[in-house]
Amino acid sequence: MQIQWYPGHMHKAQKEVKEILPQVDIIIEVLDARIPYSSENPMIARLRGDKPTIKIFNKSDLADDSVIKKWQVYFEISATIQTLTLNAKDMNHKNQLFDLINQMIPRKKDSVKVIHALIMGIPNVGKSTLINTISERPIAKTGNEPAVTKMLQRIKLEDGITLFDTPGMLWANIENIHSGYRLAITGGIKETAFELPDVASYAAEYLMKYYPKRLEDRYKISLEKITDLIKNDPSADVTLLEIIGKDRGCLVGGGRIDLDKASRILITEIRDGFLGGLTFEHPEMMESEQVQVEELRAKKVAKKLAKEEKKKKRR
Ligand code: G4P
Repeated sequence: MQIQWYPGHMHKAQKEVKEILPQVDIIIEVLDARIPYSSENPMIARLRGDKPTIKIFNKSDLADDSVIKKWQVYFEISATIQTLTLNAKDMNHKNQLFDLINQMIPRKKDSVKVIHALIMGIPNVGKSTLINTISERPIAKTGNEPAVTKMLQRIKLEDGITLFDTPGMLWANIENIHSGYRLAITGGIKETAFELPDVASYAAEYLMKYYPKRLEDRYKISLEKITDLIKNDPSADVTLLEIIGKDRGCLVGGGRIDLDKASRILITEIRDGFLGGLTFEHPEMMESEQVQVEELRAKKVAKKLAKEEKKKKRR
């Protein structure tokens, strides 16, 4: 899948983070709980060193609790990382975050020390919503378009905590082809950057494997039928989209199913939570996907070297 990205923003973000990091006591990295690996920014892992970090699993209202728990264990293996599941729209979660910051950066009683926290997150994870919620005022602009450029902000919170919000745009883990699909499913990539039926097929395949009961409950398709599709239909993903399209009356001439419409229905209903809380990646998947990423990287390097060699010979 080809994804349009924004290299200019990447360099800007990296520079900003490097500059501000020495002043920072703690990093707050906002993740999408539906894709905790794919919504990570690879630069943060590289630059943060031993800086205490809170990984926030935001949008937990749309994610699968049991899978989030696995991810929490996975990340908390690192002694400097703690995790928190949140719904950024919910004001009641505010104190949980402040309590965790105070626990990780302890201060003496009556200390006037201000804790400097840097908040980061790839577009659309809900960073602006969270800032608004914890500051209890509309500070950062929120919206459904991934790119929002703004100035570096210092936001005073209660409890002697100051939040830094850098304007540069962070990028996601898109080197992994699966991450591209998952970001597209969850709305982390602009729709102009991908083909909807392609992404819906990926989602359909995943749901058949991991959430067949949810499909049965939502789309009048029995578990037996799903098992049969997985076993015997090489295009089970497309067949499922056709079943959804038929159920919802998405027809074009000659009684054929409008796959674009069926795809939109599936993706919209996933994003709006109509299939219940879903998480599209498990920690145990990552090892084999990482191998694929390394292989792809090696192929790219080999191709580049071969090209340079060819050029040399022509000279
Ligand atoms: P960003 O700054 O990281 O780019 O993201 P932003 O806060 O703009 O949030 C992106 C979208 O995600 C918004 O929806 C926001 O309401 C939604 N969102 C943020 N946190 C949560 C959460 O914990 N749960 C759920 N369900 N949604 C969340 P939108 O449709 O673009 O805007 P709106 O119509 O909600 O205002």
